[in-house]
Amino acid sequence: MGKNILYEKKEGIGFITINRPDKLNALNRETMDELECLLYEIEKDEEVKVLIITGAGEKAFVAGADIKELSELKPLKAKEFSEKGQTIFSMIEKIKKPVICAVNGFALGGGCELALACHIRIASKNAKFGQPEVKLGLIPGYGGTQRLTRLVGKGLATELILTGDMIDAEEALKIGLVNKVVEPSELMPACITIAKKIMANSPVAIKLSLHAIHKGVDMSLDEGLALEANLFSLCFASEDAKEGTKAFLEKRQPNFKGE
Ligand code: COA
Repeated sequence: MGKNILYEKKEGIGFITINRPDKLNALNRETMDELECLLYEIEKDEEVKVLIITGAGEKAFVAGADIKELSELKPLKAKEFSEKGQTIFSMIEKIKKPVICAVNGFALGGGCELALACHIRIASKNAKFGQPEVKLGLIPGYGGTQRLTRLVGKGLATELILTGDMIDAEEALKIGLVNKVVEPSELMPACITIAKKIMANSPVAIKLSLHAIHKGVDMSLDEGLALEANLFSLCFASEDAKEGTKAFLEKRQPNFKGE
């Protein structure tokens, strides 16, 4: 890809690596532009079934937005900056393929927000999470006040955002910020295992499940249940549903075509 992001495709999995290890993979403007272009490309690429996002090196996933660039912003540009980052992270959240975040070290500020926009978060033991913006006189601007609150609840999100404290991977696991914690050497294998399990299931059902979860979370329960019933019904228009149920009854593995 560009110089700040590495991209590789292997067996249906797209691997995105934020690659500025000397700056702890901080997200400067150029990196965000590259990420946006890459996401448009991946969205259209039917060969990519699952995405894994990680950071280069052993120390950091992403240590935030680039503080040098932040220090030069004026209010109107800052609004554009925030909205642009929010749009890119929302693309990740809304993309019709599961996105797994392999958190391999510091996930601070924009790094924590990037992890929050992914669908599944797996952390290595050395990962650290935080929204330290208040220490810079700022607040999170790439979705942290909203997604962290929705994920871990109002009380814990408020504490994390107001103190700017960093928490380790075990603590992140305890509060539901990550799904699993593994040894650093096991991080990629663990993410690939999840990706492969997902890829063995019906692609139609995966897409509809993601849609139901993403849209439903901000709806009332009744609205969310109505959405679920509609999407459940839509499954029955798919070959995947016919194949999946038939294969079970015939005591064989299904052969899903994603149709
Ligand atoms: N933006 C720009 N550069 C950053 C950065 C960021 N968010 N985070 C780290 N870097 C740079 C450092 O300036 C340093 O660059 P240099 O070698 O040219 O001086 C390099 O990455 C290594 O970081 P350093 O601070 O020396 O590593 P450390 O091990 O002492 O500390 C952290 C690690 C993560 C605790 C520390 O880098 C930090 O607090 N980073 C900022 C986190 C933050 O506030 N993020 C939210 C931004 S909104």
